[in-house]
Amino acid sequence: MKKRTVKRIGILTAGGDSPGLNAAIRAVGKAAIGELGWEVVGFHDGFLGLALDRWQRLDKSTLAGILTVGGTVLGTSREKPHRMEIDGKVRDMIPRIVATYRRHRLSALVCIGGGGTHKNALRLIKAGLNIVTLPKTIDNDVALTDATIGFDTALGIASEALDRLHSTAHSHHRIIVAEIMGHRAGWLTLGAGIGGGADVILIPEIPYDTGRIADAIGRRAKKHRNFSIVAVAEGALSREDAAAFAAAKRRKKKAETDEERDRAKAELAGLDARHAGNTMRLAAQLEDLTGLEARVTILGYVQRGGTPSVTDRLLATRLGTTCVDLINKEKFGVMVAARGDGCIPVPIGHVAGNLKLVPTDHSWVEAARRVGTCLGD
Ligand code: F6P
Repeated sequence: MKKRTVKRIGILTAGGDSPGLNAAIRAVGKAAIGELGWEVVGFHDGFLGLALDRWQRLDKSTLAGILTVGGTVLGTSREKPHRMEIDGKVRDMIPRIVATYRRHRLSALVCIGGGGTHKNALRLIKAGLNIVTLPKTIDNDVALTDATIGFDTALGIASEALDRLHSTAHSHHRIIVAEIMGHRAGWLTLGAGIGGGADVILIPEIPYDTGRIADAIGRRAKKHRNFSIVAVAEGALSREDAAAFAAAKRRKKKAETDEERDRAKAELAGLDARHAGNTMRLAAQLEDLTGLEARVTILGYVQRGGTPSVTDRLLATRLGTTCVDLINKEKFGVMVAARGDGCIPVPIGHVAGNLKLVPTDHSWVEAARRVGTCLGD
């Protein structure tokens, strides 16, 4: 690779953590330092580190031994550059971030993150920063990339959990409702549900009818399979709740006065609060409707923790090294997307605000139906 003029780059991880972040930091750092002789500055806790100038130099020794380590050695946060709470006040920190970037004489900034990070990166690009992003999230919902760092590991954790729940559900003749992460997108629940042989899979993209789920469980019981595993995404909605959310969102969009807008916002907040108990409610309803005992397991943050899978380490290393090539060619304002066996740059403007949801005719959905899985519709 030919050495160019770039000398110093910054790197940060933002949003919820996911396994494989350190593998990505290592890949960017090793290619930048080892191959090109650049300097690499790691900012702490996402955009907060840039705003408050909290950083560390990354060198060969800090990058050694982190490939297999979960989490992120740089720390992360969900802080937004344009609305950061500093000393109890919400402030626009974009000017401070730009100043930090200039003071460090950065040629580019690498942001590793999901949907929120891409929106924030776009704000900073508009303020004049050279940015390249890498897609990460266990939810796999970043647009225009085949895969995101962390998804494969979480898939393994969630499907192993379903495997383990099978034997105890079977022994006790119970329904076990397993809640899997994913507020908006159902990739993780669908993938883990298929891989872990769930009898029912409920995802945000397909609103469910509780009666139909109970019927499916009842049909299994008639065939002497009086236990069932229900894999439910945290954002899955019943048909009634989906309709209520859609109506409140419509009201918010159409609101003409501040009063109408505030009312619609309060309505949405109320629906969100009620939704927090959705999995517990669903289990109770299924118990009532089927006569089978039901239990809930919320997998929670276990899905984001620990050692990344080999697939995630490989993905992170491919994306991270390609990222350095792009910076070397001074190609900025792009996300490095995984596409087939390769990696390609896609404009961050096309990624930001554009979630990759599960298409209802996706091959995974079709495959699940064809093996008799109930999708609640
Ligand atoms: O990063 C995505 C995600 O894991 C979602 O699936 C989940 O709803 C969310 O993060 C929760 O993250 P936190 O509680 O850290 O904000």
